[in-house]
Parts: sequence; structure tokens; C-alpha cells
Amino acid sequence: MSFIIAIDGPAAAGKGTLSRRIAETYGFHHLDTGLTYRATAKALLDAGLPLDDEEVAATMAHEVDLAGLDRSVLAQHHIGEAASKIAVMPLVRRALVEAQRLFSSREPGTVLDGRDIGTVVCPQAQVKLYVTASPDVRARRRHDEIIANGGSANYAAIFEDVKKRDERDMGRADSPLKPADDAHLLDTSEMSIEAAFQAAKILIDAVLNPN
Ligand code: C5P
Repeated sequence: MSFIIAIDGPAAAGKGTLSRRIAETYGFHHLDTGLTYRATAKALLDAGLPLDDEEVAATMAHEVDLAGLDRSVLAQHHIGEAASKIAVMPLVRRALVEAQRLFSSREPGTVLDGRDIGTVVCPQAQVKLYVTASPDVRARRRHDEIIANGGSANYAAIFEDVKKRDERDMGRADSPLKPADDAHLLDTSEMSIEAAFQAAKILIDAVLNPN
């Protein structure tokens, strides 16, 4: 049986970096499930199709190829916005969750990060982490990341976006963002990613090597 680590949390909380680091350390496969929603949204945008037709969006979701998810293309801001719009649709979620579950069974283990991994996609995960940080810290990190990559960014606009995305992700009826009852909370507001990684490692090692 595959060992599954579920990592959930709001946008820009640091869960992507943390998940990649954990997957590398344990030699596990990693899936950023946000990319599956982004790939579906991008396919609709590229085809000039509407973002509010659930049947059409679900058809696109069925065609997403997990092997072809390219972060550098899908990271674009407008794709993230479109992704959070189609992520409210139950038929889209059903198609993507099915693909994510299949991925989660890969041996020897997997790390999946997203919004509903510990609650819906893999409720049986051996380790569940809920990674969060205050909206201000998350907006600041995203701002600094864009500047560091040579872009231009406006902190106030990013802060508003972070709050809007939180509302959409936490307020939707199907699979809203929330910690699983048995998730370990990691608030990274005043913690470096390195410190968060060390805290996560202690939790994972305790389950992998009890006693
Ligand atoms: O994490 P990321 O910003 O790439 O996710 C884009 C959007 O996809 C999120 O705002 C959220 O609405 C949706 N999403 C989701 N469930 C997941 C992962 C992402 O609804 N497991």
C-alpha cells in the first residue's frame, strides 16, 4: 500500500515548496493538484470556451494529462483566477479527483498538495498537514517572489487577490478549503520554509518509523 502525505492550505502559504521538499526527501511522487485545475482552465481559455459551462469544463477536466502539467506555464495569475472559478463545479471536481486518487496509489508513496486532499481526495492519508499563514504574510511572499523573478507587482492588489481567492476556496459548497479533523496545523506566518520542513519531517518520521 502506498504511503500518502496530504498537504492542504490556502494560496501562497508555502505548501508547494514544502511538498516538493518532502517528496524529494522521501523519494515519493509529488502532485500539485492545483495544476490540474489550472490545466483544465487553460484548456478552456485556449479553446475560447466559456468558464461557466459545467459540462464543457468537465469534458476538459477528463482530458487533463497529469504527465504534461507545466508549472512555468500554468503559474500565470489569470490562469489561477480561472481555475478557482471552475473549481466550484462538482463535475469538474469529480473528474480531477478521480485522476488524483489514481496518482495517490503510486508506490512507494505520494505527496499531494491542494485544498481538499485530507478531507476528500485521500481521507485515508497516513499524514495530513494543513499549512497556513496570515493573508498579509502570504501576499507579501507572493509579491516578493514576483519581484525576485524580475516582474512588477502591487502589494495592495495582491493582498486583495489573496483574500478573494480565500473566500472562493473556503466558501464553496463542494469540498471547501478546511483542515481535516486529524490534520496537523502548520502556521508558517513566523516560520521559515526550512523550519516548516523540519516540523513536518518530525511528524512524518513518527508515522513511518513508530517506536
Ligand atoms: O493552488 P493553486 O493556486 O494552483 O490552485 C488554483 C485553484 O484551484 C485554487 O484557487 C482552488 O480554487 C483550486 N483548487 C482546488 N482544489 C485543489 C487544488 C486547487 O479547488 N485540491
